[in-house]
Amino acid sequence: MTFAVRYYTKTGNTKRLAEAVAKELGVEALPISSPVEDKVDYLFLGNSYYAFNIDPEVKSFIGSLDKNKVGKIVNFGSAAMLNSTYKKVKAEADKVGIPMLDKEFHCKGEFKGIHKGRPNDDDIKEAVKFAKSIKEA
Ligand SMILES: Cc1cc2nc3c(=O)[nH]c(=O)nc-3n(C[C@H](O)[C@H](O)[C@H](O)COP(=O)(O)O)c2cc1C
Repeated sequence: MTFAVRYYTKTGNTKRLAEAVAKELGVEALPISSPVEDKVDYLFLGNSYYAFNIDPEVKSFIGSLDKNKVGKIVNFGSAAMLNSTYKKVKAEADKVGIPMLDKEFHCKGEFKGIHKGRPNDDDIKEAVKFAKSIKEA
């Protein structure tokens, strides 16, 4: 099984999750400015909500993916109020014909003093557990 990890972050929360996930998978966590060049079974994509949507850069990154190189996208991330970005990411993935793993990881993310310290150590542990469950599936 092969993996890649890409993330988009504005305040560092997704980067922290991505680094923990990537360490578990034995790969490097890279920002979405780094294209996916090698063929992978699972592309873990860390992203968040900003003003009720995923960032346009995340949309263009997904649009740039080659369906012959990416088996499935695995969504993970955090947000302050909203739940998962899964549907938003899937809408973009559908356009390029890349399936999404049905499972995902989501936790609270600090924003302007709300959910202070999140993702916290427990969130990171859960994210690692999630990555491990896919690695060992
Ligand atoms: C500019 C901005 C807009 C945001 N808008 C939302 C939002 O609409 N809904 C929500 O649940 N969280 C919102 N958040 C909170 C982020 O999703 C949350 O802080 C997340 O952990 C940020 O991840 P990052 O540090 O990797 O960018 C917003 C954060 C920022 C910085």
